[in-house]
Amino acid sequence: MDKKKIIIAIDGHSSTGKSTVAKQLARALGYIYVDTGAMYRAISLYAMRLGLIDESHFDEIALEGELPKININFRINNESGLAEVLLNGENVEREIRTLAVSKFVSKVAAVSSVRRKLVEQQQEMGKDRGIVMDGRDIGTVVFPDAELKLFMTATAKDRAERRFIELTERGDNVTYEDVLKNVVNRDHIDSTRKDSPLQKAEDAIKIDNSNLTLSEQFNQILKLAQSTIN
Ligand code: DC
Repeated sequence: MDKKKIIIAIDGHSSTGKSTVAKQLARALGYIYVDTGAMYRAISLYAMRLGLIDESHFDEIALEGELPKININFRINNESGLAEVLLNGENVEREIRTLAVSKFVSKVAAVSSVRRKLVEQQQEMGKDRGIVMDGRDIGTVVFPDAELKLFMTATAKDRAERRFIELTERGDNVTYEDVLKNVVNRDHIDSTRKDSPLQKAEDAIKIDNSNLTLSEQFNQILKLAQSTIN
């Protein structure tokens, strides 16, 4: 008999390693992995390129008008086996991870019409279940009926340190202070926005990974997933 397929929703603060564990989990279970943050980042990049958002202004109305022209998709990279995000067919996987995009993405993600468009697409992606999705509102808005919901957190300092190492290792020229500022600022905007603020779903399991190694965390989560499936 085929095993039951479930939806695993992983929400939490920025840079808590949600995507690392979500990818590992999807691979172990043979599930699809969807990084919803990448979708908000791709729309932010689109807005930045058109000059609709910068340090001093954000033309929300113009972005809303552009939404029908924006197509976000994922394509598997055959070498890495990982999904990469496409913005109107262009692979923007690397560009969306820069601190420049991180600076504006929370503002773009606070726009209700942007959220409506992406939530609808995410629900479609998960309609057959067998999916691990990470983001901020997956357990609360996108899939309130997900069989397993996790809420990941860690201290801002721990998260900024991890993110700083990640960005400098790939050659980005950033300071630790800027990364920390961005992490704290994004948490604030994401948690206080009117539409779908970041909050733990009542039935989500909270995981503080400040003091967990990646493999400890993965094993703990894999056990939770397996016991939910069986
Ligand atoms: O997971 P991430 O850091 O790549 O997400 C980028 C931003 O997108 C984050 O600051 C908040 C927003 N986001 C959101 O509002 N809802 C989601 N489901 C995923 C991300």
